Amino acid sequence: MQRLFGKRIVLGVGGGIAAYKSAELVRRLRDQGAEVHVVMTRGGREFITPLTLQALSGNPVHLDLLDPAAEAAMGHIELAKWADLVLIAPATADLMARLAQGVADDLLTALVLATDAPVALAPAMNQAMWRDPATQANAELLASRGFRLFGPAAGSQACGDVGLGRMLEAEELAQRAADCFEFRSLTGLRVLITAGPTQENIDPVRYITNHSSGKMGFALAEAAAEAGAQVTLVSGPVHLRTPERVQRINVTSARDMLAACEAAMPCDVLIAAAAVADYRPEVVAEHKMKKDPTSGDGLLLQLVRNPDILATLASRVDRPFSVGFAAETQNLLDYAARKLKDKNLDLIVANDVANPSIGFNSEENAITIIDRELQPTSFAQSSKGKIARQLIAFIADRVKRA
Ligand code: C5P
Repeated sequence: MQRLFGKRIVLGVGGGIAAYKSAELVRRLRDQGAEVHVVMTRGGREFITPLTLQALSGNPVHLDLLDPAAEAAMGHIELAKWADLVLIAPATADLMARLAQGVADDLLTALVLATDAPVALAPAMNQAMWRDPATQANAELLASRGFRLFGPAAGSQACGDVGLGRMLEAEELAQRAADCFEFRSLTGLRVLITAGPTQENIDPVRYITNHSSGKMGFALAEAAAEAGAQVTLVSGPVHLRTPERVQRINVTSARDMLAACEAAMPCDVLIAAAAVADYRPEVVAEHKMKKDPTSGDGLLLQLVRNPDILATLASRVDRPFSVGFAAETQNLLDYAARKLKDKNLDLIVANDVANPSIGFNSEENAITIIDRELQPTSFAQSSKGKIARQLIAFIADRVKRA
């Protein structure tokens, strides 16, 4: 299926090494049926030639703001009006800073100011540059103004570093571009998502927690917002950026998480992706606990059960369509099916955390969804972003039928 059939895309190419992937991206966009005009910054031209992108797009490449001949052919305002989507890939740290400031001193930045079309950015830069507070602030600001951020992904970088900052692959960018035009399947629905670990205090300096990174829950929040939902994300302590158009509530313990979720009710859909601590210390010591010379080498910590957030919300009279996760290391589908029943869920998402490439803290996931008829549906291993979009589409379809 050509998901971009008839769509007009301006592809902005900034000056980063990932510009080599832009050639492939033009191919992928055209494969999906899009018409593509490429606009290159001065930096972009240092990494890939206009001739390459002209040949691949089948259109002249646009380079200068102040070139009378180019303006006479298709000027920046005309190009801005022509576009159904402006996709900038790679979007460098400098380009993002200039866009955040509203600078319009070259063709691409002027075009972005002039267009009414959605603008999507595929950040690509060294991981330290991405983590820098200035870049993070620019990303937040741009997102709050409605720019869509596609990525960046984590992994090894051209400079030898490893971390967040890689541009998404061309295929994924083309799919994300197509998603921008898709019917928004959760429009008008309120979606509550829990994410991350909880921390259960032992004393003022120590706590019990787990390895959850929150990545799956955050990816789901992003995908649900992209699908048009009004999303509340209740998150335990994690180091992740809040996706655009998502209301985030930070919590620490399981009991805080339950209180925040109850305050966010009623909702239409609940997705419990948090790894909630099943137990907490019965008493939290007021002062830092000292080693006790009379108790030998051991220390006994009395634990008590935490409330089950998902089961509590799924048993309310105004219960939402409830989706749980079963992260297991053995008997995956059996345990998942039992949880579906015990917690009164509509769907349970089983994932095998014994496999290190899809377990806690990894970038990828592979899932099997089980419904009340115990019918399994599996999605093969891929990025948590892609799995999240597949799962949200699946949930939207089931909610519509419920
Ligand atoms: O029982 P188990 O912890 O394996 O169940 C996992 C599912 O239940 C997940 O969706 C998790 O977010 C949710 N859960 C919860 N509150 C708890 C424990 C688990 O919401 N106290």
